[in-house]
Amino acid sequence: MQADIGLIGLAVMGQNLILNMADHGFTVVAYNRTQARVGEFLAGPAKDISIVGANSLEDFVAQLSLPRKVMLMVRAGEPVDSLIAQLIPLLQPGDVVIDGGNSNFTDTNRRVAQLREHGIHYIGAGISGGEEGARFGPSIMPGGAIEGRPLVLPIFEAIAAKAADDEPCCAWIGPEGAGHFVKMVHNGIEYGDMQLISEAYHFLHRALGLDHSAMQAIFAQWNRTELESYLIEITSEILAYRQADGSPLVEQILDVAGQKGTGKWTGINALHLGVPLTLITEAVFARFLSSLKEERVAAEQLFHKDIGRGLIRTGEIGPWVEELRQALLAAKIISYAQGFMLIRQASLDFNWQIKSGEVAKIWRAGCIIRSTFLDDIHAAFRDEPGLAFLGSAPYFTNLLQACLPAWRRICAQAITTGLPMPAMTAALSFLDGYTTARLPANMIQAQRDYFGAHTYERVDSERGRFFHTDWTGSGGAAASSSYEG
Ligand code: 6PG
Repeated sequence: MQADIGLIGLAVMGQNLILNMADHGFTVVAYNRTQARVGEFLAGPAKDISIVGANSLEDFVAQLSLPRKVMLMVRAGEPVDSLIAQLIPLLQPGDVVIDGGNSNFTDTNRRVAQLREHGIHYIGAGISGGEEGARFGPSIMPGGAIEGRPLVLPIFEAIAAKAADDEPCCAWIGPEGAGHFVKMVHNGIEYGDMQLISEAYHFLHRALGLDHSAMQAIFAQWNRTELESYLIEITSEILAYRQADGSPLVEQILDVAGQKGTGKWTGINALHLGVPLTLITEAVFARFLSSLKEERVAAEQLFHKDIGRGLIRTGEIGPWVEELRQALLAAKIISYAQGFMLIRQASLDFNWQIKSGEVAKIWRAGCIIRSTFLDDIHAAFRDEPGLAFLGSAPYFTNLLQACLPAWRRICAQAITTGLPMPAMTAALSFLDGYTTARLPANMIQAQRDYFGAHTYERVDSERGRFFHTDWTGSGGAAASSSYEG
């Protein structure tokens, strides 16, 4: 019997995706560069189900029904290129190759074009949800060669998570590397959510002096509000986790955050596309700052820093907790608003026609940032598909306005106390900037023109007309050509 799809790369995500496909009635052929792993998989988790093994790439390809569907679940970067090079001579026009890893979208752009020359349809599919998602339903973000779409969507829709309304968390995102771009932004938002939650935990612990049982209960309660999400839920479980001696494990974990690069790419692409993605970028920088552990320990002593514990008196804690919840919610809205701004800008610049509403819809379940809140984001883009700023949708405008006083008080308290809240405060500064009709950028323009004849536009003239002033009387009349970054 010929297999419906083949998967290369039997690490944790690959194995679980194969098992998920088999659950949904697909016959899968499995291959791994290290042969022993194929045998172990077939004798272990894949025993007695519709999964077959291959002992070489030739054998793998020969077992696939036409047009072949080959899914790569290998490490991003060179391993993907190397596999593609080996597969090209074995495949034929009309076949499909899918990269389900966390590849950089620019690599996917290049590979779609490369395989098109051979008549092979290349798809970059972002897949989120970790091990459990892969096994029981991830969120899948495919994009690339449109010809491959009808061949892969039935499989992806079958194995994807289903939202509360039973809709599969999978949708075609757009051409080229659009799928991997959207997955990258998903990960950036994941960084933002995790940073905001860690700042809230820090505030509860250090400013309010709450213990782990109290904090666990607070996160569990927040998970019954608009904040309901996978990351809030696991935070509550992490706070509840005790070591054998009864002490909370989380306090034994070194405060140095790791990363694999997708958050950094999100920030880099925001800079390339000129999008003020302040919160996610702060979240990436916060991970970098956390890695300067020895320097931070020395600097705390140098500056006699003591943010203390329980600085706010016990009797007042209830209102602070609710204000913190509102601050977290408001900052989270800004984080998603910025993430969708980045997707919108990429879609415009690269002509990808990404539907933001569809993206929100397929993030509602299966992925790491899944939450009820994404239902409201989906509704906002459904009502206004071209929405530039999520906070302008009536539901979110009202929510932001309702949360603002509390959000300001939390940020002010953190700043006064010396408790770092980079993401929470960056989000507030963004909203303050975004809602200010006249910013002091006129001064920047004046300075640029003063020292470098970079010219400026005037409020009493049409846009696009540039002026230069000889500010000192000793400069020339020639203007430097204006630079649009
Ligand atoms: C997912 C995750 C996953 C990501 C990890 C680790 O959507 O399932 O985003 O793809 O690789 O969360 O990311 P960092 O190591 O960069 O924190």
